Formats: sequence, C-alpha cells, structure tokens
Amino acid sequence: MKLVIDGVSKQYAGKVWGLRDLRLELRPGVVGLLGPNGAGKSTLMRIIATVTRASAGRVMWNDADIAQAPDTLRSVLGYLPQDFGVYPHLTALEFLEYMAAVKGLDAASARKRIDELLAVVNLAEAHDRSLGGFSGGMKQRVGIAQALLNDPELLIVDEPTAGLDPEERARFRNLLSELSGERIVIFSTHIVSDIEAIATDIAILGGGRLLAHAAPEELLRAVEGKVWEWVIPSAEVAAAKQKFLISTSVRRTDGVHVRIVAAERPGAGAALAAPTLEDAYLYCISSQRASVAA
Ligand SMILES: Nc1ncnc2c1ncn2[C@@H]1O[C@H](COP(=O)(O)OP(=O)(O)O)[C@@H](O)[C@H]1O
Ligand SMILES: [Mg+2]
Repeated sequence: MKLVIDGVSKQYAGKVWGLRDLRLELRPGVVGLLGPNGAGKSTLMRIIATVTRASAGRVMWNDADIAQAPDTLRSVLGYLPQDFGVYPHLTALEFLEYMAAVKGLDAASARKRIDELLAVVNLAEAHDRSLGGFSGGMKQRVGIAQALLNDPELLIVDEPTAGLDPEERARFRNLLSELSGERIVIFSTHIVSDIEAIATDIAILGGGRLLAHAAPEELLRAVEGKVWEWVIPSAEVAAAKQKFLISTSVRRTDGVHVRIVAAERPGAGAALAAPTLEDAYLYCISSQRASVAA
C-alpha cells in the first residue's frame, strides 16, 4: 500500500498557486498534514481524493496514476472534506444509507456496516435523530462514519477537529488512532496537539510547498538545543516578539515566561528547554525551508 505524490503543482485561476512541486511518499500509518491556513492542505487532499486535478505532476496509488484510473482509488477511498455538509432533515441512519447507495454498496451489507459504524462512532442511540439537531462533534462523527463505509485503505480527513470542543476533539483523535492499522490515514490540521500523539509521521506544508516530512522524533531533534525558556518583565515582551521567534508566552507572578526558538541563547538568564512539537513546527514554518525532509 503506497501513495506517491510526484511533483504535484496546482495553479488556480488568477495565478494563485495552491501547491508547488510537492513530493511525498506515504505508507500505512497516520500522517499528520500540518500547515497554517492557505498552506495547501485542502488542495492536496482534493487532488488525492480525485475531486480536482493537479496542474502538473501525478499522484500514484500503488503505481497507478489516479488521474488516469480514478475508480481504482475511489473504491478504496474514504474522504471527509473540510466543508462537510450534512442534510439537516435526514436522520443519521438515512444519511448513511444514502451515502452507502452513492458508494454502490448493496442494501443488505450496507445496513450491517452502518450498524457497526454507528457503534464505532458512538451514535447508535442517536441513529434516528435528524442531523439538523446534531452538535458539531456529532456531525463530524457522522462524517467519519460515511468515510468508513467502504472500510477504506486510504482515509483522508481534512481539518476534522475544527469547531469541536476540547472533549470532542480528544474523542475524535482517539477514534482515528484506533482506526489506523493497515491503512493510510491523512489527517490535516493547523493545530499541532491534534496529531501530536497519533501521527506516525508528519508532513509540514507552507505556501504550497513541503517544508518537512519526518517522524515526530526527527522533527524534535531538529530543534534540540534551540529552544529557550526566558523570564522577562512584561514591558519587554513586545521587543522580544520583534526580535525572536516566540513559541509560547505565559504570564506568571515573576514575569512573562517566554519560549524562544533560536540558535543562540537569546539573553543572559535564558535556559535551554526540551523541545515540543509545537516548537519544531513553528521553527519549520518560520524558516520556510525543507530541513529534515525524510
Ligand atoms: N478554488 C480556489 N480558487 C482559487 N484559489 C484557491 C482555491 N482553493 C484554494 N485556493 C488558494 O490556494 C491556496 C491553498 O489553499 P488551501 O488548499 O485551501 O489551503 P489550506 O487547506 O492549507 O488552508 C490559498 O492561497 C488559497 O487561497
Ligand atoms: Mg483547508
């Protein structure tokens, strides 16, 4: 099982580049696709899901070009788009039956699969309630259930945690990590903590380009010895922000505790700290260069 993104570029009308010469090879596991808004995450996912076409380059699924043979991919694909809309007047069960029909599953096996999935996403009790009355988290769980109808080998979820509260976020992450196994899961987000615990590897996008693709440990190693904790008076925070890359800042009684990512000690009194993935991501995004490409 292998997905190869081979020099993919996407240019939109008005000469906006969505992606530029992206190269990425993915194997089974959970890939965290990290990047700020506008990085090209949704563009990449729409191309992989064969919803839109690349302007240049190819995507290969097990050595077949998905633009040439989209059906071979579509039959093993599960896709939860970023702007996943549900039909407010359908019940969860009706919606999933409809989606199963669209995907060409026969009614009898579809019903069995839907019952299993409603249990997996913890919506069995709510199966006959209208989607219009569902919370954001419940809608996302219906979304993941429809993406799993065909037990996909390739599962793509685009910013699935946007709009969820912290508890729903945690539940969604756990659900996805349980689903991994023998499939490729691509999980896009701009929030590091979404994928911190579950990603087997992380691809960082910025400005339509791949900035890094590596295991989390490797990304952490890239900022080892570059993360500093420094306590400064609040009056100096603005100046520090001008001068340094600040990962987090927390106000305490003794001053503001700032985390700075820098090659050199930012000032006397700054102490080296153990890097987090958030530091690594920030460093990668701000330096905008492929440092630890796998
Ligand atoms: N349909 C579109 N038409 C024109 N530009 C687009 C379209 N979709 C995305 N873009 C542009 O492509 C870039 C990447 O967008 P997108 O893939 O949505 O990024 P992300 O999902 O990481 O936020 C952005 O500059 C965005 O404005
Ligand atoms: Mg997006």
